[in-house]
Amino acid sequence: MRMLRVMAPLLALVTQLAHAGAAAAGRTGFLLCQSCHGSCGQGNRELNAPRLAGLDAAYLERQLLDFSSGRRGAAAADVLGAQMAQMAKTLSDKAAVSQVAAYAATLSAPSEPATPGGDLTSGKALFSMCAACHGPAAEGNPALQTPRLAGMSSWYLLRQLEAFRAGWRGVGPADSPGARMRMMAMTLADGAALRDVIAYINSIAPRAAPAENACRF
Ligand code: HEC
Ligand code: HEC
Repeated sequence: MRMLRVMAPLLALVTQLAHAGAAAAGRTGFLLCQSCHGSCGQGNRELNAPRLAGLDAAYLERQLLDFSSGRRGAAAADVLGAQMAQMAKTLSDKAAVSQVAAYAATLSAPSEPATPGGDLTSGKALFSMCAACHGPAAEGNPALQTPRLAGMSSWYLLRQLEAFRAGWRGVGPADSPGARMRMMAMTLADGAALRDVIAYINSIAPRAAPAENACRF
């Protein structure tokens, strides 16, 4: 019993140090990424590169593996997904992927200004369905494998809803999180519904992001 009492905090410390170690190692790997996604992971609309700051490590890691394995970014018409897939393939192995994901998950940047347009009332009603998985404040829920949507690049979120609907994303083999989301995207009636729900998501104030690598620009 006494042994357990000593071991539990020790194990927690070892896990914490392992995470910190992976994040530190991923910093160098992120140098390539920041040429498009920005040094704070703030995103760059001109390069179509979305904000990464605010996403959790498990989601980031899964997306990188999806890109490099062809579950994402492989559809003929998905030019931007293909561009990112090329980048994901430069990561040498699973350890390199975990490290860069661990580092990116420590980034924090002011949230993107919302893209104007969309009807907030209709968007709020539509969002009640999304909240079940993405959380009431669109903060994401790692237990359900859902990413944060609040404060993320609204133009990118719109493109992803279109990608799910077009079958560019969420149709690959063994992509059950993607398949779950594709099913939800198909329930949105039309382009106006997509814009309305994104407008509402962008009206939700994002929760304060981790301050570790907080960065102003
Ligand atoms: C040449 C520019 C470029 C570089 C360099 C680049 N990316 Fe990307 N990345 C993109 C684009 C464009 C997208 C959007 C793809 C889409 O629309 O499906 C993207 C999407 C992503 C996503 C998906 C985000 C989400 O919310 O699902 C992740 C994760 C990501 N990039 C991580 C990285 C990492 C890590 C690196 C470095 C190893 C990197 N990127 C390097 C252009 C780039
Ligand atoms: C049944 C659970 C579930 C519901 C309900 C749901 N989602 Fe998702 N969503 C997911 C999962 C899981 C993912 C991650 C997919 C992946 O890993 O590729 C996701 C991903 C997304 C993405 C991609 C984000 C990114 O960074 O690339 C967007 C955008 C999105 N959801 C919007 C919505 C909207 C809007 C609604 C409501 C209309 C909604 N979701 C409802 C499960 C859900």
